[in-house]
Amino acid sequence: MLAELSPAVIAEVKFAATLLGSKQRICILTGAGISAESGIPTFRDKQTGLWGNYGVEDLATPDGFARDPKLVWSWYQWRRQLVADKSPNPAHYALAQWQYHAQSSKQQITLITQNVDNLHEQAGSTVTHLHGQLSRNRCSSCETPYQDQSSAAYDTQNVLNFDDTLITCSHCDGYIRPDIVWFGEALPVQAWETAETAAAGCEVFISIGTSSLVYPAAGLAQLAKQNGAHIIEINPDPTPNSIVDITLSQKAGIVLPLLIEDITAL
Ligand code: OAD
Repeated sequence: MLAELSPAVIAEVKFAATLLGSKQRICILTGAGISAESGIPTFRDKQTGLWGNYGVEDLATPDGFARDPKLVWSWYQWRRQLVADKSPNPAHYALAQWQYHAQSSKQQITLITQNVDNLHEQAGSTVTHLHGQLSRNRCSSCETPYQDQSSAAYDTQNVLNFDDTLITCSHCDGYIRPDIVWFGEALPVQAWETAETAAAGCEVFISIGTSSLVYPAAGLAQLAKQNGAHIIEINPDPTPNSIVDITLSQKAGIVLPLLIEDITAL
């Protein structure tokens, strides 16, 4: 892995590790980029972006669902299929290892994600979800959670079946929708409180694999900075985040294992 890194990035990793090793309260925000090396496309990549030929307003808004529930449900069933055989990559595992290590050190690590793929949990992390989870459904009308695992039901041959037929709620007949936060909707209250508290109280905020374009999540780094935190960004591409103190311009799956190895060895 070291061979893939320039001396400048290696030096920045060491610098970041020393800083992180000396601090106790760390807040981490992840986005689609951390799952890219697991084979899950990000949203805004020009060639492979998840939005494809549709717009955000068609696929991820309450109005889009009201206009064409079948299109939206099909897109989410397709995404469920896409993530079903994907596994955590070294970046997810490195963060889980750090959280595990922190149980016996004095560090408090709050991991917050915008991702809905559950790969952090699969790697063994404790994580706060800001944008919901692909594995859950609820009624679009009365909000009742939809328990039937139709999102990934097993058919008689024990094969995963991602049927894109619309399902209705047994209580009110409303359409079942994925339990995901769409544009124009509020974030889950408890999750947002956890995120705000961790960002406002942290000494270092690490932004990993996010374009920092979608608010309110993107505002967490600013909140941390206003309260005196150092900001680290891990992303192979530049972002509009202009308050970063340390930029690690590499893939998360390459940089994070080295960074966490250095921190836990301190
Ligand atoms: P984006 O698709 O906007 O950004 C992904 C970022 O990951 C980009 O900045 C890439 O440069 C970076 N990236 C790509 N490969 C990487 C790698 N191997 N390691 C590290 N970084 C890498 O995804 P998000 O910022 O997560 O919301 O998007 C935020 C929200 O917009 C999503 O949660 C979703 C979307 O609309 C909802 O659906 C509500």
